[in-house]
Amino acid sequence: MRSLATRSLAVAVVLLACVAHAARPYRGGAVATAYPQASAAALEMLEKGGNATDAAVAAAFVAAVVGPYHSGIGGGGFALVHDGKTGETKVLDFREVAPKAASRDMYVKDGKVVPGLSTDGPLAVAVPGAVAGYLQLLKEHGKLPPSVVLAPAIAAAKKGIWVTPRYLTMGQGRLECLRKDPEASRVFLVKNAQGEYEMPPLGHVIKMPDLARTLGGIAKGGAKAFYSGPVAKAIADTVQTGGGVLTVDDLAAYKTRPRQPLEGSYRGHRILTMPPPSAGGVAVIQVLGALEKLRPQGMAFRDPEALHLYVEAVRRAYVDRAKYLGDPDFSDVPTARLVSPGHIADLAGSIDAKKATASASLLPPVPGAQGSTLTDKPAVLTPEPERKNTTHISVIDKDGNAVAMTTTVNYGFGSCVVAKGTGVLLNDEMDDFAAQPGVPNAYGLVTGEPNAIQPGKVPQSSMSPTLVFSKEDPKKVMLAVGSPGGSTIPTTVIQVISNVVDSGMDVARAVNEGRVHHQYLPDELWVDKWGLEPATLSVLEAKGHKVRRVDQWGDAEAVFSDPKTGLRYSASDPRNEGVALGQD
Ligand code: GLY
Repeated sequence: MRSLATRSLAVAVVLLACVAHAARPYRGGAVATAYPQASAAALEMLEKGGNATDAAVAAAFVAAVVGPYHSGIGGGGFALVHDGKTGETKVLDFREVAPKAASRDMYVKDGKVVPGLSTDGPLAVAVPGAVAGYLQLLKEHGKLPPSVVLAPAIAAAKKGIWVTPRYLTMGQGRLECLRKDPEASRVFLVKNAQGEYEMPPLGHVIKMPDLARTLGGIAKGGAKAFYSGPVAKAIADTVQTGGGVLTVDDLAAYKTRPRQPLEGSYRGHRILTMPPPSAGGVAVIQVLGALEKLRPQGMAFRDPEALHLYVEAVRRAYVDRAKYLGDPDFSDVPTARLVSPGHIADLAGSIDAKKATASASLLPPVPGAQGSTLTDKPAVLTPEPERKNTTHISVIDKDGNAVAMTTTVNYGFGSCVVAKGTGVLLNDEMDDFAAQPGVPNAYGLVTGEPNAIQPGKVPQSSMSPTLVFSKEDPKKVMLAVGSPGGSTIPTTVIQVISNVVDSGMDVARAVNEGRVHHQYLPDELWVDKWGLEPATLSVLEAKGHKVRRVDQWGDAEAVFSDPKTGLRYSASDPRNEGVALGQD
């Protein structure tokens, strides 16, 4: 028999483990972002009497400074904003658009897509939407003036940012690309004794006086300080000098787009998410809808049979994505049909519970366009570090206002081009178009004709900022959630929601849990390195899934508001460097 001391120790260890997994409760507002400085700025806005929008926008501007490899004012994104008083939810699409001189085959030579042309350098740059978006959100939903909301970002740029392990990983992955642009090299790298640019050491402080000046101009002069005048000219000149096609007219013509939230439900919870041009929201609604039909509630967490059904639902959602999704302002995207109960029932009904369906049997791939393929080696795939881009901000304030915002420069450090003298790092969002319909992009994602390049068009996105509402009051936000991770964004969001709703997990544990992903092509089942037990993997393999263990992905940021107690809990993904904060 164990001694009392041993048993007490065992109990203490178990309790500690539980505490380590649990998010702490807040009576006031709560925030989660991928950077401590961005979360602190968001909290500062709440303390100053600002609301969820003030907090989210302050965090987004700080993220642009401290995480230039994920997002920035040279990028774009999507936001869902919920008004706790009226119960209304608005959606703003401030994603980049293709420049006027962009054309369908601009990345194709001799019938083939030229590798790197849509990801690295000036030709990859789409018209940025972040500044217009952040300021419009503030104007329509915020309480504080831009001078207050931008102050933390300006201070961070002046003071300088630490080179963190994440900065190093992202920078290493994009070193050659950054070296090609003299201004990006000057801003983000340091010279070695031989006068060559290399990664700065860990802990090095990078000051950004140009960016501080540009942000200061925006705080005083609004969006026109970015979309016209010297900043716009510098952006257009830099891009065109390097062979890109973005002009000052493209910048002057940029407009954000208000959209209707995409609605669905899961086990009695109303869900609002991002409509097209996001393909992510459609997948979230389709997969959760199919799971509700396929998986009886009460199925054990990680039950292999339930996992198989989830994977098959995801596979089919990504087939729909490849076939139908793109910018609805340019082609007839059948969104209503794709999320209709009838289509979701068909999708669920087509799943064989016993065995995996070959992706090619659902939609034959374009020959030679299968994305990465499995080798026989039992390898753990390390996703290229530069793939881990984009960032998400979740806020719920004390009055029940909520924001879920996902924002990006696309690949790590975007296009690696910095507009001379402005500190503005420009996106490479053009890669989210189908450079050639059917040919995979940087995420191995295959998209089709509706996502072909056209001037003024928004490239298809995976970004899926999502709000889940309380069962008791469908106008009260219970969960704000989103993540980066390119093609894996929708499945990260789906799994966090399922972990909370199906397994009743604390939001921190829901975010921590290992993840499973499929995207139709490549026909592989990605499993977070520590995500599943060998016995579970064996069952999935026996059903015909080609399992690939992947060295973690995503960075879910979530805030949960407990409908019963009114307390809020926030969680930042432990896979990265963020923090979750709140007001006592
Ligand atoms: N640039 C990543 C996405 O929008 O999905």
